[in-house]
Amino acid sequence: MYKLKVITSTVRPGRKGPAIAKWITEVANSHGFEAEMIDLGELNLPLMNEPVHPALKQYEHEHTKQWSAKIEQADAFIFVTAEYDYSYPAPLKNAIEYLVHEWAYKPSGIVSYSIGPFAGVRAVMSLKTDLLSLKNVALAEMVNIPQLNQFVDEDNNFTTDERLDKNAKIMLDQLVRWTKGMKAIREDK
Ligand SMILES: Cc1cc2nc3c(=O)[nH]c(=O)nc-3n(C[C@H](O)[C@H](O)[C@H](O)COP(=O)(O)O)c2cc1C
Repeated sequence: MYKLKVITSTVRPGRKGPAIAKWITEVANSHGFEAEMIDLGELNLPLMNEPVHPALKQYEHEHTKQWSAKIEQADAFIFVTAEYDYSYPAPLKNAIEYLVHEWAYKPSGIVSYSIGPFAGVRAVMSLKTDLLSLKNVALAEMVNIPQLNQFVDEDNNFTTDERLDKNAKIMLDQLVRWTKGMKAIREDK
């Protein structure tokens, strides 16, 4: 079974990201993946504080070694991203920039959300560009959630509708294909 890490993007108290991440993790687990959710708020990585460029993998700090091992395990990712000031949130950028090779030749699905009408798609565009620089390929198929308050209540319970369920299935079908293909690329040394 392919290992999938579902990674959130926000760390503020009361954040909605984990409620959405929990949902897509459960769906992925019944879709051919062994999926694990990573809440960046719980992971609590400091701002990138490694002295040596991560491409050299000479990690000094225990938090980096653990983060590296977790991402190394993964065959694929799903990023669950909010939109902060028209881009993706800084904690996700920070978590990504800690590592280089661990992201490479692996595919990523994206679930974006916002309280407004645009579903976080502006954040998606910058996230996709940054992932490509690390040789990580973000799929065309996505789940984009607009007007988040329709789907998450005050206790952070997340409910979906038919469109979200359908888009999640389409994205996960594609993610299985890309995961298989990119695993072959990683094994072809
Ligand atoms: C710092 C900050 C910046 C935001 N910027 C945007 C934005 O650019 N576009 C948007 O649609 N919503 C924006 N929002 C509203 C978010 O869509 C909404 O608060 C969402 O729940 C944030 O995700 P989180 O709950 O996981 O933190 C912003 C919220 C915060 C806290």
